Amino acid sequence: MSILIKNIQTLVQTEEQAKNWVAGAAMSHLPTIDNAFLWLKDASIFHFGKMEDCPSDVDAQVIDASGRLVFPSWVDSHTHIVYAGSREGEFVDRIRGLSYEEIAKKGGGILNSAKRLQNTSAEDLYTQAWERLEEIQAFGTGTVEIKSGYGLSFESELKILRVIKELKKNSPLTIKSTFLGAHAIPMIYKEHRKDYIDLIIDKMLPTIAKEELADYIDVFCDKGFFTVEETDRILKAGANYGLKAKIHANELAVSGGVQVGVANNALSVDHLEATTIAEIECLKGTKTMPTLLPSCSFFLNLDYAPARQLIEAGLPIALATDYNPGSTPSGKIPFILSLACIKMRLLPEEAINAVTINGAYALELQQEVGSICKGKKANVFITKPMDSIARIPYSFGSDLVEQVILNGEIYA
Ligand code: NIG
Ligand code: FE
Repeated sequence: MSILIKNIQTLVQTEEQAKNWVAGAAMSHLPTIDNAFLWLKDASIFHFGKMEDCPSDVDAQVIDASGRLVFPSWVDSHTHIVYAGSREGEFVDRIRGLSYEEIAKKGGGILNSAKRLQNTSAEDLYTQAWERLEEIQAFGTGTVEIKSGYGLSFESELKILRVIKELKKNSPLTIKSTFLGAHAIPMIYKEHRKDYIDLIIDKMLPTIAKEELADYIDVFCDKGFFTVEETDRILKAGANYGLKAKIHANELAVSGGVQVGVANNALSVDHLEATTIAEIECLKGTKTMPTLLPSCSFFLNLDYAPARQLIEAGLPIALATDYNPGSTPSGKIPFILSLACIKMRLLPEEAINAVTINGAYALELQQEVGSICKGKKANVFITKPMDSIARIPYSFGSDLVEQVILNGEIYA
């Protein structure tokens, strides 16, 4: 199957050669081609350029994208979309004044979701997650990371990871899977937390590795959850099975999470709402992608991570949704772009780099997705008519994606 998209007003995020990431001042540069064509062949990007160089005699389905922009599909490098039900009761509790941590201490929060998930069949979980994947696909997402972490028992963590494996097989989205057994200490282990960590290391990890159920390992390293020492132990155990770290750090407090992540060569450290100069210094010169989740700050009324400071320190940043039932019940990347521009003061170019090329790096997929580059996957979307890239973050809440193409197949 071959598709030729012609008369594209602006083709966004073009690259001659795939790069790893963009950092610092370079983040404000977004390469584009005006009045362009894009030729997709056999599920890959085959050719692109100015309309004057567009091949004429091509055996392809032709799409006229006059007045429209074409983007590489978004890369959402941090989500928890395999979960059961919802938690709007806690949403109302927080409006009435309870904090996220107070709700968690009472057995709400992650433990509430774990209880629901334990009583939900794998089939039902699959159906719920599938609907969320269809939803984010329509927002322009083509690649997504999915974490476990609402199981918190041997059986339930495996149940989630096996559901993710099925989703990987059947969904047109490119999916990476992360084991987050260390998301919270289950109630029954409250007085002997070491036993739960032993369970993760001695029982869950070997089975997960044997069944090849995870690409990465994650720990919620934060106040009230897992300590730096516990995190270090779990990450080292994961590394023994070849699982790189992508961790939750510094959401609720300056937790030492960034430092322990960097010390363990984490691929990314995510959240960073509570970040100081020490964390920024620690990230410099490393291969760890700082990944910021502004819709979590929006939903929980937390400070926003210091995106400008990170960029001005010469660092790259990725942005992701964190789609989950507790802190971000939404997976809409265009809204992330709006928050990044409005609340973090990123330029649209910086925000778009953060959800394309830098998100791809955070999943080790920078050779496959995240830009319009020959040989990468034919994962793109065509917008509704608009004049410039700034329209997407500007029109917050609007649905501006007109047509989605994944692996060279057109989805309405
Ligand atoms: O990334 N912070 C840890 N985990 C999730 C939220 C978990 C929940 O409340 O269900 C997050 O925000
Ligand atoms: Fe998260």
